[in-house]
Order: sequence, then C-alpha cells, then structure tokens
Amino acid sequence: MNVSIRPVTPADEPFLWDMLYLAANLADTGIPPTALRTDSALARYVEGWGRPHDEGVVALDPRTNERIGAAWMRLLTGDNRGAGYVDDTTPEVALAVLPAHRRRGIAARLLLALIDGPGRSYPAISLSSRATNPALGMYRRLGFEPVAGTRTASRAGVIVFTLRRVIRPPRRNTPA
Ligand SMILES: CC(C)(COP(=O)(O)OP(=O)(O)OC[C@H]1O[C@@H](n2cnc3c(N)ncnc32)[C@H](O)[C@@H]1OP(=O)(O)O)[C@@H](O)C(=O)NCCC(=O)NCCS
Repeated sequence: MNVSIRPVTPADEPFLWDMLYLAANLADTGIPPTALRTDSALARYVEGWGRPHDEGVVALDPRTNERIGAAWMRLLTGDNRGAGYVDDTTPEVALAVLPAHRRRGIAARLLLALIDGPGRSYPAISLSSRATNPALGMYRRLGFEPVAGTRTASRAGVIVFTLRRVIRPPRRNTPA
C-alpha cells in the first residue's frame, strides 16, 4: 500500500495514546484506553508529547489521509526508563498499526522512516517486544538485534525482550 509518512506533531498526541493502547496489546484485556493515562509504566511513552528528543512518524492512508499507524521514540532515562531501556543515549521506540491495515508492510515503512530520519541523531534505538511477536523477523531484517540478558516476563506474564538497532557504530580508537 502506498502510504505516506510524515513526522509526528504535538497535535498527534491523542492518536499516539490510541496507538499506545494497541502497542501495549491491551485491546483484548478489557482494560479501557483511559487506564493508560494512570499507568506510569505505559504513559511515559506518550505523556506530554513534544519534549526535546520526542520524535516519530505517522502513516497516512493515501485515500482518506487518515492516520493508520505510528512509530515514535523517546529518550527515557533514570526513574523514567521504559521496558526497552538500553542506556541513556538510546531512545525507546513504540509502534502500532491499526488492525484493518496490518500485513501490508506499514510497520516496516514506519521503522525505516525512523531509522533513516530522526534515528540518525542517535547511536542506536531500541524496542521491547514480545517473544511471540510475528513481526520479529521484520525487526531482525531491519537490523534490530536482541540485547543479551533482557529476556524477562512482563507484568502480564508474557515473555518480552529488548531489541536494539545500532545506527552509528562506536568509533574505534585507532593507534596514531
Ligand atoms: C506488530 C505490528 C506493528 C506490525 O504491523 P504491520 O504493519 O502489520 O507489519 P508489516 O506488514 O510491516 O509486517 C511485518 C512482518 O510481520 C509479519 N506479521 C505481522 N503480523 C503478523 C501476523 N499476525 N501473523 C504473521 N505474521 C505477521 C509480516 O508478515 C511481516 O513479516 P515479513 O516482513 O517477514 O514478511 C502490528 O501487528 C501491531 O500494531 N500490533 C500490535 C502492537 C504491537 O505488537 N506493536 C509492536 C510492539 S514491539
């Protein structure tokens, strides 16, 4: 599908809350979307969107111009670190695509736009994924690699682990 991709703006914050609800796989749990706002472990990915280092991309349906998916990233450090924390220089990515638009390569397009766009300002980006996520092969193809020692059970009892996509490999100190 020939989606167009544009940067996230502060006006997209309500849409990011919707996408976060999907990204957290809460739709089948009976937990209402409003509960996200009081769940600090999840709310930290969106709350007060538009801070320095907040970057993301939105996919638009070319026929309707409606938003159909988003991938966004935030530098979450200190007490505010998220499930995909790697280090203080690696923003954590969250992403989701509306169910009716899945399996058409939109998530891959969104992640590529992040990697080739705002991601270039960082040494790496990371995300936390369920071990059963069917998109894992796509993450690996885009250069995401599992971070050793991060495999754990989430609050929901699901096995999750962190993947990191190196953007700029660390410089080697070469002898003079
Ligand atoms: C995961 C998610 C973002 C994928 O979005 P998408 O636009 O459907 O993904 P794509 O079409 O780019 O497909 C990516 C890969 O995942 C595979 N895939 C995605 N959903 C799948 C499913 N339900 N069953 C089997 N394979 C699936 C695709 O076949 C594709 O694999 P390939 O590239 O090896 O062919 C979307 O399913 C979603 O929003 N899920 C709920 C939230 C979530 O899990 N977010 C990710 C948190 S890390």
